[in-house]
Amino acid sequence: MRVFVFLCLMCWARSENKRPCLKFSQLSIKDSFKDLFNPQIEIFLIMYTRNNLNCPEPLLERNNSLNVNFNTSRKTVWLIHGYRPLGSIPAWLQGFLRSLLKHEDINIVVVDWNRGATTLIYDRAVKNTWKVAVYLSECIRKLLMHGASLANFHFIGMSLGAHISGFVGKIFQGQLGRITGLDPAGPKFSGKPPNGRLLHYTDAKFVDVIHSDIDGLGINEPLGHIDFYPNGGKKQPGCPKSIFAGIKFIKCNHQRAVYLFMAALETKCNIISFPCHSYKDYKTGSCTDCDNFKKSCPRLGYQAELWNDVLIERMRTSLRTTVFLDTAAKSPFCMYYFVLSIIVLDGAMKDGYVTFNLKNQLGKTEEPRLYKKNKVFGNLQEVKILAEFLNDVVNISHIGLTYHRRSNQQCSTCEYSIQSLMLKSLTYPERPPLCKHEIVLKENEEICLHVHTCSAEEL
Ligand SMILES: *[C@@H]1O[C@H](CO)[C@@H](O)[C@H](O)[C@H]1NC(C)=O
Ligand SMILES: *[C@@H]1O[C@H](CO)[C@@H](O)[C@H](O)[C@H]1NC(C)=O
Ligand SMILES: *[C@@H]1O[C@H](CO)[C@@H](O)[C@H](O)[C@H]1NC(C)=O
Repeated sequence: MRVFVFLCLMCWARSENKRPCLKFSQLSIKDSFKDLFNPQIEIFLIMYTRNNLNCPEPLLERNNSLNVNFNTSRKTVWLIHGYRPLGSIPAWLQGFLRSLLKHEDINIVVVDWNRGATTLIYDRAVKNTWKVAVYLSECIRKLLMHGASLANFHFIGMSLGAHISGFVGKIFQGQLGRITGLDPAGPKFSGKPPNGRLLHYTDAKFVDVIHSDIDGLGINEPLGHIDFYPNGGKKQPGCPKSIFAGIKFIKCNHQRAVYLFMAALETKCNIISFPCHSYKDYKTGSCTDCDNFKKSCPRLGYQAELWNDVLIERMRTSLRTTVFLDTAAKSPFCMYYFVLSIIVLDGAMKDGYVTFNLKNQLGKTEEPRLYKKNKVFGNLQEVKILAEFLNDVVNISHIGLTYHRRSNQQCSTCEYSIQSLMLKSLTYPERPPLCKHEIVLKENEEICLHVHTCSAEEL
């Protein structure tokens, strides 16, 4: 017989002001072994607010009254971890909730189902996800009676926690405000019919998903109103490439979704993404157009919500939004994107491509990583070149522009005319675009162009 122990709260000293702070269950691999013979599940709801940041408290008191620090008119973020075979406390948890509370005055509920996730048998953890969701739904019903509202709930679930969030959403028929899936678990969920057995966009008013390990522990299928695939959703830069790195090799890509979400909260850089059919298409630089998205490319992380109306509307017309981006190897992972639009006058440049770099007022040059170079320059057609920079470039005064011809013979006397060019920051769409007209290029020779803020008629 299996024994399931559900606990909503822990015992504490009688005196109200001296009760000990709650702690996330710290287990170990031993507990994983014990679970083989004696499966158990325990759930604790640990609440943090700005008032008790250093001393987490139970969400509901023993007598079922609500913790005094919980403010029902504020947003509540629920954090749910995934499978934990080693039983340890999630390394990201403290940093994550602190970033959230620094950003906004909200209630945070950490769902600690470590005993239930700590097992050698992954399938058993998978089976427990539904039980956790049912338990959560009971607690939520109590919260609703205390005046909380489903629309104010934002579930953030990592791996199996993403599916738990989805199940809670199903129980409440999609009335939750938002679910964020951080690399939702793939094994045992991949290929399942949508809606029934895994996180689905109908589980909340707005569902955003970050996929960072689609060929490992994560899931490839798009699940939300928006699905972010950083670096194509696999092989995250900065993660070890060899099994000899041990556990880090197994977890790094999977956990990157969590660290990306966290970085997006902390950095001033907008981690933008490009709506595109596939990562391959994104890599050709052909998905730079965010005009259908409030003129600004959707941002990864907490701020993805700013695009929810557009995304929900698109979903209503069966348009899924998958978005792609590349990231740096280290936190805050941000890349600075610019797009250079070029209009040429004739077909003379059709056998070549253009590269560029940016120089600021002080003469410092930043070299970008350019996307696929073989765009054809057709007569009077606008060609857009996407470029990503590791460092931001502000106060751009010059663009260094080079034309390369795909031919062995060089023509040193040939001249190539560009009618106009325009440079835009996609990371910071509020920055005014820069323009330049009537440019003459030679082969393989960088020319340094002084650019000015575009006038109204140039835009
Ligand atoms: C419930 O317990 C809390 C904390 O122990 C206490 O402050 C509150 O007054 C109790 N409420 C009721 C209705 O007994
Ligand atoms: C609860 O939050 C609302 C909205 O932020 C605020 O106006 C109110 O003062 C808060 N109540 C308490 C008891 O802190
Ligand atoms: C950009 O230019 C403005 C105005 O000239 C100046 O105040 C600012 O410090 C410059 N920023 C950088 C990073 O050089």
